[in-house]
Amino acid sequence: MELMVRNARLLNRNGLYRVAVRDGKIASIQEETPDSIAEGDEAFATGRCEEQIHAEGLLLLPPYVESHIHLDAVLTAGEPRWNESGTLFEGIQIWSERKPYLTEEDVRQRALRALQGLAGQGVLHVRTHVDICDPQLTALKSLLALKNEVRSWVNVQIVAFPQMGICSYPKGAELLEESLKLGADAVGAIPHYEFTREDGIQSLHILFELAQKYDRLIDVHCDEIDDEHSRFVEMLAALAYRTGLKGRVTASHTTAMHSYSNAYVSKLMNLLQLSEINFVANPLVNTHLQGRFDPYPKRRGMTRIKELLEAGLNVSLGTDCIMDPWYPLGSGNMLHAANMALHVGHMTGNREIPLGVQMVTEGGARSLDIMEGYGIEEGRPANFIIVDGQDPWELMRRMPVTRYVVYRGKLIASTNPAETSLYVGRSGDPQSHPIGYL
Ligand code: FE2
Repeated sequence: MELMVRNARLLNRNGLYRVAVRDGKIASIQEETPDSIAEGDEAFATGRCEEQIHAEGLLLLPPYVESHIHLDAVLTAGEPRWNESGTLFEGIQIWSERKPYLTEEDVRQRALRALQGLAGQGVLHVRTHVDICDPQLTALKSLLALKNEVRSWVNVQIVAFPQMGICSYPKGAELLEESLKLGADAVGAIPHYEFTREDGIQSLHILFELAQKYDRLIDVHCDEIDDEHSRFVEMLAALAYRTGLKGRVTASHTTAMHSYSNAYVSKLMNLLQLSEINFVANPLVNTHLQGRFDPYPKRRGMTRIKELLEAGLNVSLGTDCIMDPWYPLGSGNMLHAANMALHVGHMTGNREIPLGVQMVTEGGARSLDIMEGYGIEEGRPANFIIVDGQDPWELMRRMPVTRYVVYRGKLIASTNPAETSLYVGRSGDPQSHPIGYL
């Protein structure tokens, strides 16, 4: 036995458990009893178990899933200039100025730094979009090589993303197809950014043809605009339904849905349910980017997460950006994204708060179509994290660090939580608590 986690709390179960790992897989999950604790001590003392982690009642979860990030652009904020308007469109312009200076090594170094930062926080499945509107496909080639380089400690999924459009960029469709031949896992589109509505529709038809020809997943930057007339999500859903690709299709952003009339949304929701497509919201970045053209009151640029979940659709979250032309902040912290989603979406009801954690774990695994190997079950790959909290409420409230990160049975990162020494109000006051555990 390579590893045994002792006294861990599990989601939706009472009691404490020990999780044993053998050959990179979860070999057993057993409730801790006085006998099992003695047996665990003995296994470790006699070398039958090589390594043990004392979870001390903390929550053991499957890894966080980053459903949407742009690793090719991370850590370029301010290069060659800062986005002063805070709009998506200025971001795209600045990126097109930075792009000619990309080299494979430049992309590799920045993306690697971001992946290390993510893995340290327990994010072990990462879907990255990569801009393929570049005749040399420099960023794509770099990230394909990096995906292979890091595969022993993080699972990276690459979406070929035509930032400047499929129909509106010279040879856009050819570059997209070439990206799939080179090995991209998923195919993307940006219909609301194409020159015309017809081009947007045409780009989705091309997208589905390519996905079917090369048997790839689909993830579309869809209706990321404060325009209530941007309705490409209905065509995306209709094509997902008609082709049968359904759950292999993801609609990212869909911020225009925030501005649709309720009458249209109620008609749309039936189609979305039939299509079974996934949704990815990016609450941090879209709260920042959207509403920039509004007078007061300014719209919140987030898709209708609450209503989508209530309709039984899958929603997961991304952080989208870490210091790039679109967003000057960002740390890859999935709990920040979830916390923002709960606030902006008015999802603070008793049953809604735990959904924040669901969207950055299992919801993400559904979007990435990796459910087969995901979750805390015997026989599944031993990928899990132990967080510095006891339940999803505490995670959403305090956003604590991830104490231990295990990938394929190996401990790949650990973090000590910050400790506060309190020098006031202690003498004679038995009620004072460590401040970090309010
Ligand atoms: Fe994006």
